[in-house]
Amino acid sequence: MKILYLNPTGQIGGAEASLLDILASMRAGQPDWSLHLLAGDDGPLHSRAEALGVSSTVMPLPLALAEIGDAGAGGPAGKHVSKAKLLYQLLKSAPATAKYLRQLRLFMRALSPDVVHSNGFKMHVLSACAKTRSMPLVWHIHDYLKPRPVMAKLMRHLSGRCALAIANSESVAEDLRSTCGARLAVQTIYNCIDVEKFSPAGASLDLDALSGLQPSLPETIKVGMLSTLARWKGQETFLHALSLLPKDLSFRGYIVGGALYRTGGSQYTLEELREIAERLGLAQKVGFTGFVDNPASAIRALDIVVHASTQPEPFGLAIAEGMACGRAVIASQAGGAAEIFEAEVNALGHPPGDSARLAERIMWLATNRDLRARLGVTGRATAELRFNRARLATELIPIYLNITERQRQLTAEP
Ligand code: GLC
Repeated sequence: MKILYLNPTGQIGGAEASLLDILASMRAGQPDWSLHLLAGDDGPLHSRAEALGVSSTVMPLPLALAEIGDAGAGGPAGKHVSKAKLLYQLLKSAPATAKYLRQLRLFMRALSPDVVHSNGFKMHVLSACAKTRSMPLVWHIHDYLKPRPVMAKLMRHLSGRCALAIANSESVAEDLRSTCGARLAVQTIYNCIDVEKFSPAGASLDLDALSGLQPSLPETIKVGMLSTLARWKGQETFLHALSLLPKDLSFRGYIVGGALYRTGGSQYTLEELREIAERLGLAQKVGFTGFVDNPASAIRALDIVVHASTQPEPFGLAIAEGMACGRAVIASQAGGAAEIFEAEVNALGHPPGDSARLAERIMWLATNRDLRARLGVTGRATAELRFNRARLATELIPIYLNITERQRQLTAEP
């Protein structure tokens, strides 16, 4: 069996972390299968995949296409891209995209995979257009389609070419069914992580030094957020919540992560976030580490892990990672994220965008060591049970075998 995985970027965000866990799990589950990755730009994803024994190819997406993003194009104006601008960008990128499609088609023909597994909206569309009829296609959907009106139209139009769509939560599966219609087969596979790497024991980073802050006092409660700088991840909600904490509480906040994607307007810059922190009087209380290579050791340096997405989160890997490291997690309770924890059993919840409630939750944990410890223990147990990546191969192998068998029967039909 030969599987081609396609990803729009070579950088590592949530969808790519999830893909790496799939590759690792598949490698262990089927050591003889041939796995190949193609990504739309260079970046650490390639070396990480190669280290797992997966061959990889960089096929750079044309810049005009890489920069397009329509998240929020149907929603309120503001920092979001307008529909008109998006259409203009699409038209402008058309010749380069057509050229890319030809290149991708040639590549796919030469590699001749038994299954194509695409990860990321641009690759879902490109692979559906470039594949031959005999290559079954799996779309792995990590985000909601509804806020992406143009992409939703394209996906609906192309859904007949997709053998199965995998969604990372029931909430994303629902969204997909309602945007693409009943003819698209959808199955939910919750993300997994490496629970050996994300574990309570192990090295931890000096977040103060990384952020250029003075060393913190030993009793300081460390509260951190790990995510890309996409605006909807809620860094601003987090900073507001920190500004509401009592002045005599000894705490430090950390924003761990950097700008990752090339889609315009959708991300904060670190400078912007620093300014917000300063305006809120948090200059000495909040550290910005930038991108860190080893999120597990950043999590282990924290007492409380905050997930603060202001919109429903499709899944929320940071929640699972925080739980696996035995840390007390506070998560934004909506979308797929709400499916992966049980409030006050293995994490705490707060309504998306509600900084007052988030501050209350942080305060509750900061002043209650026992609660932190209890959530840490149940969180770890949940992660071992539900998010151990060995499960991925167990779920994916029958899917790959099934769709290739179906394809074989179709080809054999007179
Ligand atoms: C995307 C989603 C995020 C999810 C990740 C892995 O980044 O926005 O919620 O955790 O993919 O599926």
